[in-house]
Amino acid sequence: MSYKFIDLFAGIGGFRTGFEKNACNCVFSSEIDEHAGEMYKANYNEEPFKDITKIDEKKIPNHDILLAGFPCQPFSIAGEKKGFNDTRGTLFFDIERILKEKKPKVIVLENVKHFKSHDKGNTLKVVLNALKKLGYTTSWQVLNAKDFGVAQNRERTIIIGSLNGIKFDFNKLEKKQPTYIKDILEKDNGQIEYLDETEYTLIENPKKQPSGLIFVGYRNKKIRVKGTRPDTIHLSRVHKQPNRIYSSNGTHPTLSSQESAGRYFVYHDGKVRKLTLKECYRLMGFKDDFKILGSKEKLYNRIGNSIVVPMVEEIAKQVKEQILNTTNEIIKYKKTLKQMSLFDFEN
Ligand SMILES: C[S@@+](CC[C@H](N)C(=O)[O-])C[C@H]1O[C@@H](n2cnc3c(N)ncnc32)[C@H](O)[C@@H]1O
Repeated sequence: MSYKFIDLFAGIGGFRTGFEKNACNCVFSSEIDEHAGEMYKANYNEEPFKDITKIDEKKIPNHDILLAGFPCQPFSIAGEKKGFNDTRGTLFFDIERILKEKKPKVIVLENVKHFKSHDKGNTLKVVLNALKKLGYTTSWQVLNAKDFGVAQNRERTIIIGSLNGIKFDFNKLEKKQPTYIKDILEKDNGQIEYLDETEYTLIENPKKQPSGLIFVGYRNKKIRVKGTRPDTIHLSRVHKQPNRIYSSNGTHPTLSSQESAGRYFVYHDGKVRKLTLKECYRLMGFKDDFKILGSKEKLYNRIGNSIVVPMVEEIAKQVKEQILNTTNEIIKYKKTLKQMSLFDFEN
């Protein structure tokens, strides 16, 4: 079965790619960032509507699924003045008004891992309460991209709601075998940026962390020594994320939307090299035919903001199986019963 969805806070369409791979059709998209919009148009041949706060919900086409990786904002400031559940003035309010008007059968929301503890858990509570008021049965979980065949340790809070009372079971998502950074590295075509041996220090006996990361060393950058005890100076280098180096035999740490210089360094075949942009897009599960355009800086921002495609693909598959196809089965069954009783009645 094919279903219609809308892609809110669309970015470069990570959600869209995953749902399209499951035979769903996008009927509306919105993204305020100009560069993201250009990439979206290049890849999906559709220009997203811009600011969602300016879009009349009545003009949005009917759809079965609402998808949104919305920015995380606290509700408590508004709440102090207007009451606990007031979401006015936040972007979640725009999701709410669309849900109220359009009543899609399913919603899938994505946010950072710490969404669950944001504002001492209040933000998540307000969102779940608001969805309940609108008739949605919800469940949520923190999922990690590395469990879906991608070599990145990227944890995200996913909330799924249904209108038919079915509680989405996250345990049914099919997990994949781990993959490693070395699996996505490009062949050296003369464009790879290597660090000179004098520019980094490798540590002794690196160990694989439970996250799958293997921290092997750090770049010899100028460090802040102020307030650091003499024999722990190396730790202050280590703690600065862009200076850390990871082995290609492990998982990569989360790509960040703040890291516009793309300072992601890996130790591979006895050398330290920077990840290429293509490798970063591969680490988010985008295929090589995905069109990337614009400045490197913006392209790094975009990829750090995106959602990991293979994780979305699995979510889409299960949303269809657990919620939507089931709804259709129930409707078909009810229709059959009705037809049977009519038949019986008339005969
Ligand atoms: C976390 S990103 C979501 C990325 C997306 N899931 C993807 O796969 O690329 C949030 C996006 O919301 C967009 N955004 C923020 N405010 C918006 C608004 N008022 N209207 C439309 N989009 C907005 C940002 O530009 C950003 O691209």
